[in-house]
Amino acid sequence: MAIGSPIHFTIILFSLFSVPALGYTFAPTIPRFPSSAIRADLKQRSGSTQNGLYRTKFFTQTLDHFSFNPQSYQTFQQRYLINDTYWGGAKKNAPIFVYTGNEGNIEWFTQNTGFMFDNAPSFQALLVFIEHRFYGKSIPFGGNKTVAYANSSTLGYLSSTQALADYATLIIDLKKNLSATDSPVVVFGGSYGGMLAAWFRLKYPHVAIGALASSAPILHFMNLVSPDIFLTIVTQDFRKESENCYKVLKGSWKLIGDTAMKPGGLKLLRKAFRVCKNDDFGEGSLIGWLRTAWIYAAMTDYPTPSNFLSPLPAYPVKKICEAIDSSVRKNNTLDKLYAAANVYYNYSGTASCFNLDDDSDPHDLGGWQWQACTEMIMPVGGSNKESIFPEYDWSYQDRVDACSFFYNVTPRPHWITTEFGGHAIERVLKRSASNIIFFNGLKDPWSGGGVLKSISKTLVAIVAKEGAHHVDLRYSSKEDPKWLKDVRKQELNIITSWISQYYRDLNSNY
Ligand SMILES: *[C@@H]1O[C@H](CO)[C@@H](O)[C@H](O)[C@H]1NC(C)=O
Ligand SMILES: *[C@@H]1O[C@H](CO)[C@@H](O)[C@H](O)[C@H]1NC(C)=O
Ligand SMILES: *[C@@H]1O[C@H](CO)[C@@H](O)[C@H](O)[C@H]1NC(C)=O
Ligand SMILES: *[C@@H]1O[C@H](CO)[C@@H](O)[C@H](O)[C@H]1NC(C)=O
Ligand SMILES: *[C@@H]1O[C@H](CO)[C@@H](O)[C@H](O)[C@H]1NC(C)=O
Ligand SMILES: *[C@@H]1O[C@H](CO)[C@@H](O)[C@H](O)[C@H]1NC(C)=O
Repeated sequence: MAIGSPIHFTIILFSLFSVPALGYTFAPTIPRFPSSAIRADLKQRSGSTQNGLYRTKFFTQTLDHFSFNPQSYQTFQQRYLINDTYWGGAKKNAPIFVYTGNEGNIEWFTQNTGFMFDNAPSFQALLVFIEHRFYGKSIPFGGNKTVAYANSSTLGYLSSTQALADYATLIIDLKKNLSATDSPVVVFGGSYGGMLAAWFRLKYPHVAIGALASSAPILHFMNLVSPDIFLTIVTQDFRKESENCYKVLKGSWKLIGDTAMKPGGLKLLRKAFRVCKNDDFGEGSLIGWLRTAWIYAAMTDYPTPSNFLSPLPAYPVKKICEAIDSSVRKNNTLDKLYAAANVYYNYSGTASCFNLDDDSDPHDLGGWQWQACTEMIMPVGGSNKESIFPEYDWSYQDRVDACSFFYNVTPRPHWITTEFGGHAIERVLKRSASNIIFFNGLKDPWSGGGVLKSISKTLVAIVAKEGAHHVDLRYSSKEDPKWLKDVRKQELNIITSWISQYYRDLNSNY
């Protein structure tokens, strides 16, 4: 019952902060992390270091970049992945594309960054993917996760500012080793990685000439957005498909609650949802399980089949609503909900039964809980009357209580906006920043905290109303719709212009 722990595995949703307080049915989830929905099929992917896409390297990184006491000088091994197949080389000052790693295993994020692989050849770019400290294999304190995650005295070194300093340190050292100090670096990131990419360009303009920040909710902090906006967008996604779908989902929580109260009700629910015999079933876990499916489906409502969280069809939200609207036994709402959940959890058709309590963390995302308790106070999970989820007021105090319980820490809810800004962002960045692309898809619930309006000629917002969570960074495919091809074309044109401008400046010794 960790704080950001997945309701069922999870990724993005920061999950429940302590449910017991609430008592019954409804556990407020906190999207675990803005990151991507990626519950990849791990068995298939993990350990695939030698999958032919990159080589794995380790860099000796400084534990604490911001003070000079003896323990700050401790080091750890930071993992990064590199692909130089397409690189034009140092002599040509060919560009370097760097992915600023998210809150998880970096190998897993390479699946989400096909855009970099797709376009490396035409840019003759070197590809580098850097893992975020405390995730994957980049664990301080001797690489021992038990020690690193023991308590706040070690976890205290896990922060976005330390991560950005890691990236700068590593990039500068790598360029020196490659004798490529004049190669321009462009940073890429999606979700939390996108936030890091944008912030990296703001803080380290001498290291990166530009950033593509995809689905980066840099404004999703306290007093900047409504805590309801995330679930409001999820609601809109389903309501746009059909009013009936919306009504069924909206009414489902009460139906489940009422059914559970009846004699034999839990048994009936168990049966209706094909819950595995060994699953420690309760209505709370059923509700969390359905909630996760609807939220992740909204985040990954991609135009082509995907395999992030779980294998999904193209347009999963539409498929879920179709299952509800066309269910054979139209008189039985539980059957409709089962059919809808089946789209999300059993697209591959291989599930013999469902385990609702799977809170495994195959991508090593667990560190987000700590980040959500210290600096990442991103209000998510409130829902209003119109929502398909039960009405719920997001509460900062609940977060404070949970974090005190789990880590004995008090959040610093205003640190991120103090360090990176956010208030009056247009007025501020207009004159102080340049060369950032903010992509957002409006179907993505995280778009509520994104930069949706261009700020200047070089701070460009690209908004796709049909887009989901960092859809632009995925591998391109023949089936991609025109709007997605256009988004990528626009991004490539902008990146090309940054690089050309850089070379002009370099050649004129400007
Ligand atoms: C780089 O990626 C391409 C696929 O885009 C792959 O064919 C190539 O082998 C990779 N190179 C290295 C050095 O891993
Ligand atoms: C990690 O540290 C814990 C606690 O000190 C210890 O029990 C465990 O054996 C260590 N694991 C490894 C792989 O060294
Ligand atoms: C954290 O854990 C370490 C190792 O178990 C221990 O020595 C230290 O006292 C703990 N610190 C706190 C603040 O609990
Ligand atoms: C640069 O080279 C040194 C010496 O071989 C090595 O220790 C270091 O890890 C390299 N840096 C990177 C980023 O790989
Ligand atoms: C739904 O309709 C079928 C066929 O008319 C009937 O057998 C079944 O009992 C009904 N189920 C419910 C829950 O009303
Ligand atoms: C998963 O889908 C397959 C194929 O449609 C079906 O036979 C199976 O019963 C489904 N599993 C569950 C748990 O519903």
